[in-house]
Amino acid sequence: MKRTVLVTGGAGFIGSNFVLMLAAQRPDWNIVNLDALTYAGNLENLKSLEGRPSHVFVHGDITRPEDVNRAFDAAKRFGGPVSVVHFAAESHVDRSILSGLPFVQTNVVGTQILLDASRAVGVERFVHVSTDEVYGSLGATGFFTEDTPIQSNSPYSSSKAASDLLVRAAIHTHHFPACITRCSNNYGPYQFPEKLIPLMIANASEDKSLPVYGDGMNVRDWLYVVDHCEAILAVLEKGRLGEVYNIGGHNEHPNIFIVKRILAGLGKPESLIHYVKDRPGHDRRYAIDAGKIERELGWRPRYSFEQALPLTIRWYQENSDWLARVRNGAYRAYYASQYAAR
Ligand code: NAD
Ligand code: DAU
Repeated sequence: MKRTVLVTGGAGFIGSNFVLMLAAQRPDWNIVNLDALTYAGNLENLKSLEGRPSHVFVHGDITRPEDVNRAFDAAKRFGGPVSVVHFAAESHVDRSILSGLPFVQTNVVGTQILLDASRAVGVERFVHVSTDEVYGSLGATGFFTEDTPIQSNSPYSSSKAASDLLVRAAIHTHHFPACITRCSNNYGPYQFPEKLIPLMIANASEDKSLPVYGDGMNVRDWLYVVDHCEAILAVLEKGRLGEVYNIGGHNEHPNIFIVKRILAGLGKPESLIHYVKDRPGHDRRYAIDAGKIERELGWRPRYSFEQALPLTIRWYQENSDWLARVRNGAYRAYYASQYAAR
């Protein structure tokens, strides 16, 4: 079925991968892409769509109702029903520890503004892209299911948990046609080099030290970004309204394992590894039970870690100009504030 999709945050890491995937896999769909172009948003990611009439970029902020309305006006001009896929967020835990307020503004207030506008327009479907971090931290065993209580621990994850509850409230109170997805850690092309994998690739490539927090034994469940995007598309097309879907890679590893694999992939020595002061409140382990989306929607990850980590490393090597441009002055100032005292 032909669709118009309003994507928020479509110039960021996962959002731009999703927009590129939609353009390739659903070429008859129209895409309106609303993004504030914060430090994490980069239109260069979408260069290949330049001049394509079915992709309209709207430079705007989800915390400003007039910007959101402008994006919906652009979507309505295509005619027919409009769906929303909501990625826009402040997304980095370490930044939320430095300052929580921007996270409340975008992730909480922005989501409510988007929900209100979406209800006023009468959207066909709304997919809220959330995170496994809303469930808090696991011990050595067990998995997050959709019924795990919300016990978020960082300002980032708590702002995402609040946004999930606002979506839940809209579903419950207004019969709003939404689904919520909660995915584990993504990696792949276009990820901003403040997150573990691209940061380690970037530093190791320049023979700089690799700052591993604490004992390096915190565990994350890593999923290639293309697999996450395909899961979101499955929820958009087939998800049961009102439901939450966990998404994960069956791919748990301690951070130090990931860092050593990156060093091996780049042919760099382990002497670059430096254990540094831990992240305050650092969640120990995340692991996803993705059984529900696998059973109901037939989704499964297509990429193994063995395939997709080398693809990711190669992408950063082949796109060193992209990396140099995103690591501009603002990023260097953030890096100094984050790592100088560690
Ligand atoms: P990102 O930081 O790379 O991109 C966020 C995008 O949102 C940027 O393009 C930015 O410009 C835009 N944005 C930020 N504030 C905005 C605002 N007020 N108005 C409009 N646009 C704004 O984030 P990401 O890693 O691509 O994550 C996307 C979504 O997926 C987030 O909601 C995040 O919580 C969720 N998520 C991320 C991961 C992960 O591993 N990265 C895993 C699970 C869920
Ligand atoms: O689980 C999903 C979440 O994954 C998303 O919701 C977030 O948006 C995304 O940022 C990510 O959160 P994490 O905090 O898990 O990701 P990050 O890449 O920041 O860190 C991954 C692990 O690596 C974590 O245990 C902290 C550690 N780490 C991170 C950095 C940046 C280091 O040891 N050193 C570092 O320099």
